[in-house]
Amino acid sequence: MQAQFPNLTVIHHPLVQHKLTFLRREETSTAGFRRLVKEISQMLCYEVTRDLPTENINIRTPITEFASPVISGKKQCIVSILRAGNGMLDGMLELLQAARVGHIGLYRDPETLEPVEYYFKVPEDIADRLVIVVDPMLATGNSAAAAISKLKKHGVTNIKFVCLLAAPEGVQTMLKHHPDVTITTAALDEKLNDHGYIVPGLGDAGDRIFGTR
Ligand code: URA
Repeated sequence: MQAQFPNLTVIHHPLVQHKLTFLRREETSTAGFRRLVKEISQMLCYEVTRDLPTENINIRTPITEFASPVISGKKQCIVSILRAGNGMLDGMLELLQAARVGHIGLYRDPETLEPVEYYFKVPEDIADRLVIVVDPMLATGNSAAAAISKLKKHGVTNIKFVCLLAAPEGVQTMLKHHPDVTITTAALDEKLNDHGYIVPGLGDAGDRIFGTR
């Protein structure tokens, strides 16, 4: 946790930081970018699930009987904020194979930078699940905050947010609207520029994942 932002955990692990450097570089190819997003997402998934409850089950090893831990408690749902969030799904789902997946479509109005919803599809039992919301870039925080408000309206009470990069402005927005939601990220960057991009950032995450520019 950061002193300034009690809701924020930055993962300083050398592997995460190393891969993030190559993710940021403008000459990284689309294929390379996608692979790095997957790998970093996997490591962030490992961190965000650190406090999942476990319970012992009785198993038999080739040597003896043994009470060994498995994850217990709520099942998980990963909710991707379209479209860039989809880039994080593969890595997360490789670790949380039984997780359900929801999608929330929000785009930023280029003038106001406010989120506009165009798609919402989540599992029926989402209120009974731990929900991990993924979006690579926490910029203004308006889309993430709107997505989480919508999930709360559907009865979800246990929400964690995971992003690759966060801007202080976005973390502050989340703290204001959803202080109960933890944010796990690979880096807290310096600021937003006048176009709402994170500085130093990595550019448009959706375009770089899908090769649309
Ligand atoms: N969305 C992006 O893809 N990049 C940014 O820097 C900010 C929002």
